[in-house]
Amino acid sequence: MKVTSNVKSIVGKADKKIYGHFLEHFHTQIYGGVFDPDSKFADGDGFRSDVIEALKAIKVPVIRWPGGCFASAYHWKYGVGRDRVPEYNKAWRVEEPNTFGTDEFVKLCRKIGCEPYICTNAGTGTPEEMSDWVEYCNLKAEGPWAKNRIANGSKDPFNVKYWSIGNENYGPWEIGAWNSDQWGPLVREAAKMMLKVDSTVELSAAALSDPSWNYRLLRDAGQYLKWISIHGYWAENFDGVKTLGYDKVALLTGSCISDPIDKARAILTTLGLEKRIKIAFDEWNLRFWYHPLILDAIKTEKPLTEDDYLAPRKLNDRNQIYTMSDAVFAACFLNTCLKNCDVVGMACFSPAVNTRGAIFTYGDGIVLRPTYYVFRLFSNYMKGTVLNSWKWESDTIEGELHGRQVSLDAVDAVVTYGDGGFAVSAVNRDENRCHILELDMTDTPVKEMRVHTLNGKDVCSYNDVDRTEVCVKTTEWKHFEPAVRLEPHSVNVIEIR
Ligand code: AHR
Repeated sequence: MKVTSNVKSIVGKADKKIYGHFLEHFHTQIYGGVFDPDSKFADGDGFRSDVIEALKAIKVPVIRWPGGCFASAYHWKYGVGRDRVPEYNKAWRVEEPNTFGTDEFVKLCRKIGCEPYICTNAGTGTPEEMSDWVEYCNLKAEGPWAKNRIANGSKDPFNVKYWSIGNENYGPWEIGAWNSDQWGPLVREAAKMMLKVDSTVELSAAALSDPSWNYRLLRDAGQYLKWISIHGYWAENFDGVKTLGYDKVALLTGSCISDPIDKARAILTTLGLEKRIKIAFDEWNLRFWYHPLILDAIKTEKPLTEDDYLAPRKLNDRNQIYTMSDAVFAACFLNTCLKNCDVVGMACFSPAVNTRGAIFTYGDGIVLRPTYYVFRLFSNYMKGTVLNSWKWESDTIEGELHGRQVSLDAVDAVVTYGDGGFAVSAVNRDENRCHILELDMTDTPVKEMRVHTLNGKDVCSYNDVDRTEVCVKTTEWKHFEPAVRLEPHSVNVIEIR
C-alpha cells in the first residue's frame, strides 16, 4: 500500500487522553492489582510499585474510576476517612471493604502522573451526592466535605477536572437504569450542582450510539457537558475461556470500531455541538469481561453460591487468552481514535490491570500482555498532529462477519507529525502475508527512520509468567527508505525525521 501525506493537510490535534485507562472495583483490579499492602512490591502507601512503574512507562494520561457497573451502586462517603464502612456492592455482589477510596485513587494518579477521572453514581446516587464529591475533591475548605478532606490529611484540593455522570444508565443490566425521558433531566440537575461547586470541571455523561438517547441527553443537558461517554466491547463472551479466531478479530477492526464514533459524531453535528462536546470512549476492549449470573437480577430456587458467580471471574485472568489478536485490535482502535481526533478526545482501555487488562499481577511480579506494548508504542512515539493520508494500491483481507462479506485494507495506517518528524502507525492485519507500506511525505525532506515492530511468532502468541512470546523489536536509526516491509499480524510504529 502506498500512503501519501502532507504536513499542510491536517485532520487535527491528537489528544493524549486517548491513551487512557479504566480501573473498576471488580475482581482483582484494585485489591491485589494496583493496591496490595501485603505484596512484596507494595510501596509505603500499599500500592504495587511494579504496576505503577509499568503504568508510568506507558505514560497513562488519565484513569477512570471506580466503575463501571460498580459505580452505579457506590457511595463514596463510606470510602473516605478513618472509619471506613464496608458496603455490599449490589452490582458485583461482593463486599467492598472501602480501604481504597477517593484519597487513595487520587494518590495513585499522582504517583503515575495522570489525571483522575471520576465516574459518579447516577444509579442509586443523587445529584447532591455527586456534587458533595466535587466539594470533597475540589473546594479549598468551604463546607463539610472539603473540611472532611482536610481532616483526612489532604490540605490542598485534589482538583479533579474530569467527571462523568453515571455509567451505562441506558442498560437494563445497570443498577439504576433510566429511560431517555428521565436521563436528560437527571444529568442536567446533577451537572448544575457539580458546576456550581466548581465551574472548571469538565463533565461527561453516559451516552451510546443511539440517536434518540443522545438527542434527549444533549437537548436537556448538552449546555453543561464537555464530553459524552460511549463504550465498546466487540468480541462475544463465549464461556470466558474460548477465544475468538484471529480471522474474525481482524475483520472486526474496520467499521465495527468506527461505527459508534460515526453515530455519536452524527448526533453532535446535527445539534451543532461537535466543536464543543467531545467523545470520551471511556471503556473499550476487544473482549467483554466474563461474569455470568450478574448482569440480570435472576430469581433462583437455590441461593447462588460464590462458585456460581465469583469463581468464573478468575477465567478472565488467563494470560493465554490475550494474544497478538488483542494487540492488532487495540492498535486499530487507537488508529481509529487518531483518524477521528477532531471529535474523540479521550479513551480508556478497560481495564488497566488484571481481568482483561494490559497488565497482569501475580505474587512474584507482573506480566505485560500484548496490549500493553501497543500503548507503549503509541504513547511514546506517535506525534501530536494527525495528517490526512491518501491511500493507493491497497491489498485487502476478506471474510464473513455477522453474516456479511467484509473487505478491509490489509494495512491500517495513520500518519502523525510533530517536533520536526513523522510517526506512522501501521498495522498489518493480514494473518499470513507480509505487505509493503510505501511512504510518501510530499514536500518534507526526511533523512532517517527507525521501525518499532510488535509481534509474536503467530497470532496465538502471548505472554505469561513463564514466557515472553510477544515483544517489541526496534531497528537502529537508518537512512530513510520509503518502502517498509510489514510482517504478518504485526503492529508497527515507524519514526521518520
Ligand atoms: O463487564 C464490565 C462492565 O462492562 C463495566 O462495569 C460496565 O461499565 C460495562 O458494561
